[in-house]
Amino acid sequence: MKILLIGSGGREHALARGLLADPIVEELHCAPGNPGIGEIATLHKIDISNNQEIVSLAEELQVDFVVIGPELPLVNGVADALRAAGFPTFGPSKAAAQIEGSKNFAKEVMNDAGVPTARSATCATRQEIERALDLFGAPYVVKDDGLAGGKGVVVTQDRDEALAHALSCNKVVIEEFLDGPEVSLFGISDGKTVIAMQPAQDFKRAYDNDKGPNTGGMGAYSPLPWAPSDIIEQTHREVLAPVIAEMAARGTPFVGLLYAGLSLTDHGIRVIEFNARFGDPETQVLIPRLITPLATLLYKAATRDLYGVELQWREDSAVSVVLAAKGYPSAPEFGGAITDIPTIADVEMYHAGTASSDSSLVSNGGRVMTVTGLGPNLTEARNRAYRGISHIALNGSFYRTDIALNASIAEMGN
Ligand SMILES: Nc1ncnc2c1ncn2[C@@H]1O[C@H](COP(=O)(O)OP(=O)(O)O)[C@@H](O)[C@H]1O
Ligand SMILES: [Mg+2]
Repeated sequence: MKILLIGSGGREHALARGLLADPIVEELHCAPGNPGIGEIATLHKIDISNNQEIVSLAEELQVDFVVIGPELPLVNGVADALRAAGFPTFGPSKAAAQIEGSKNFAKEVMNDAGVPTARSATCATRQEIERALDLFGAPYVVKDDGLAGGKGVVVTQDRDEALAHALSCNKVVIEEFLDGPEVSLFGISDGKTVIAMQPAQDFKRAYDNDKGPNTGGMGAYSPLPWAPSDIIEQTHREVLAPVIAEMAARGTPFVGLLYAGLSLTDHGIRVIEFNARFGDPETQVLIPRLITPLATLLYKAATRDLYGVELQWREDSAVSVVLAAKGYPSAPEFGGAITDIPTIADVEMYHAGTASSDSSLVSNGGRVMTVTGLGPNLTEARNRAYRGISHIALNGSFYRTDIALNASIAEMGN
């Protein structure tokens, strides 16, 4: 099978390795990719915000299958364009990707499907906004309806700040604050059947102890020894299956990866948000743990053939730590030389924001690398990830030192 993978982050590097580990794959192409992916796949420099460029590349290469990594092309409708041109595609249609592209749409789907989520109000006027803020009270949760690259949500005790953010949005969702640990749980769907993956937890704030600004994600780990033992079954039953059924009933089946961001509250699971694609950096801990051949799995989803498939997982734990460029997330510095990417057993080095310059490697994004350690438990996986990342030299770069720390301490106490 000849596959085209769209994207260029650490998530896509992990997907690329996963796809190539499946013997069904004969050729892997990636657009635009990054130098790490370029070591294992053929790269194509195209503009992935342009649907026609992606379709033309798929036609030129005569690929059998296309896998879409990031949300932007999905929300732009690239999956519709690819399917119309005859390519099996892993990734939802433009209509189905609205579950990520519009917070209000996601709320409507959840309400219609009876899926537990924070109570909310979608507001257009100042009067509606003020009424909703006072109804739900502090901490205030204010969400820009549209895609905002991780900058659309403000959670604050400060009513003035909440109001100011709400007024800056075109359409805004204001909701009840959910108190509980956050879990990411992904479902792979062919539009009818959905298969839940294992849960992961990610770390959104830039600095240790959850301090600093929100980011795209600074690290992740899986499995979650502290999570309820039935979390996969419960999330499948209460969240993933009803949403997939609702999307099908609306005539806009969801084919691809349904990412459920959950809060485990005292009153049970609540959905914080959905994404329409694999999460980054959760993918970098899930894919190395997955035994089930990835290309076959995603192809079955794309061709409506998932019924009866079960996932197999390694017993190993995985911990990923993101190396960020100086100034990330507000003003990351690009162009710094990256040296000393080591090869270590049970450590995966995933490129994200890297580029080649005069045959050397330089930083080219806020999140530069993701280093995943694998081991028989979180403590060993964590040690390997940190040993790996400590070798990488990039001026001014930083990483969190507390990824999976509490879970590792709790695990050692057991
Ligand atoms: N209802 C809520 N209660 C508490 N925290 C929330 C709530 N909604 C969002 N958050 C916090 O804000 C973060 C970002 O919100 P999310 O809906 O995931 O938006 P996005 O990922 O599009 O920025 C979440 O990961 C969570 O930490
Ligand atoms: Mg989120």
